[in-house]
Amino acid sequence: MASVTATDALLTPVRLGDIECRNRMLMAPMTRSRATADGLPTDLHVIYYGQRAGAGLIITEGIQPSIHGQGYPRTPGLHSEAQIAAWSRVTAAVHERGGRIVAQLMHVGRIASHYNKASSASTVAPSPIRAAVQLYTDQAGLQPCDEPEPLTSSGIAAVVKEYAHAAHCARAAGFDGVELHCTSGYLPMQFLASNTNRRDDAYGGTAARRARFVIETIEALIAAIGSGRVGVRIGIGNPFNDVIDLDPRATYAALLVGLRPLDCAYLHVLKSPIDGLDAARFAREHFSGPLILNDGFAPDTARAAIAAGQAEAISFARHFIANPDFVTRVASGAPLAKFNPKTLYTPGPGGYIDYPPLG
Ligand SMILES: Cc1cc2nc3c(=O)[nH]c(=O)nc-3n(C[C@H](O)[C@H](O)[C@H](O)COP(=O)(O)O)c2cc1C
Repeated sequence: MASVTATDALLTPVRLGDIECRNRMLMAPMTRSRATADGLPTDLHVIYYGQRAGAGLIITEGIQPSIHGQGYPRTPGLHSEAQIAAWSRVTAAVHERGGRIVAQLMHVGRIASHYNKASSASTVAPSPIRAAVQLYTDQAGLQPCDEPEPLTSSGIAAVVKEYAHAAHCARAAGFDGVELHCTSGYLPMQFLASNTNRRDDAYGGTAARRARFVIETIEALIAAIGSGRVGVRIGIGNPFNDVIDLDPRATYAALLVGLRPLDCAYLHVLKSPIDGLDAARFAREHFSGPLILNDGFAPDTARAAIAAGQAEAISFARHFIANPDFVTRVASGAPLAKFNPKTLYTPGPGGYIDYPPLG
């Protein structure tokens, strides 16, 4: 009798739009604040991402599409020739090891301190409402967020262009695609949520109007690099960074209805903190493409979610910090290492590239 080998569902390949992933254990985006003052990734990034190439897909740390999109210290950019050249070394390191990598485009909007960005950069948002949030700065410790300038309609068009330019840069740097960071209280979510968007023009008011900025941004990314290479990350009702939306169900239904015809590569969905809202089910009901689920998954719960058809893939963030060979460890049932929270955002190699693989 032929022996039957059970195939771990997490380790089977999956296609997300035009991106072929060799397994379903993806690396979730994580800001690690190791870039230079000019927003360049360094040799450390080449090593760090290369070490983690065993993920089915790496979604990078949040990357600003322009100088205006930066809010935290030492985050990288993807809008200059030098940044394209520096990222090319990172994508090559991942591809050489058979991995795939997309750039997460993160424009923080009002979650910014001028200490953390170029002196010529502005802080913009849908409405001039300062976030009740403090941000770490290298120069002056914790600082309040800047009061943002409200975007004019030509300002909105300029931001959308910056995103499209960053998508072009991503492909020039060898990335397999981009992911729009549309959660955690950053600019796209500031347009979606009712407490941060008080506009009375075509970008504010009803849920459909609040969704318009995100939909136009996705359309611009798709026009730049094709729908099969553009993913979107959402967190329905995620209150992080002072966001309170009065009716997240209506907001995200409007967003996903608008996204439906655009045929994005994937939707990356965080668990929702809203009582009774199953984000995975909500996403399935409103989106027909591949789903990636995230937040608090362990290998066994991830496997169960895939087996139950809740998602095509699962992303893991924290497990990848101290386990560069996370996929190999899970495949062989090896123990998982724990990370040091003190070195998450500190400059230099410590706590970044010095977690060893097994053996
Ligand atoms: C150090 C750190 C940095 C993070 N930075 C980002 C980021 O840049 N973009 C983003 O979308 N999420 C970011 N997140 C959230 C993670 O992608 C993920 O949603 C969260 O950690 C829950 O997943 P996990 O339980 O697998 O860790 C970050 C999380 C951590 C721990």
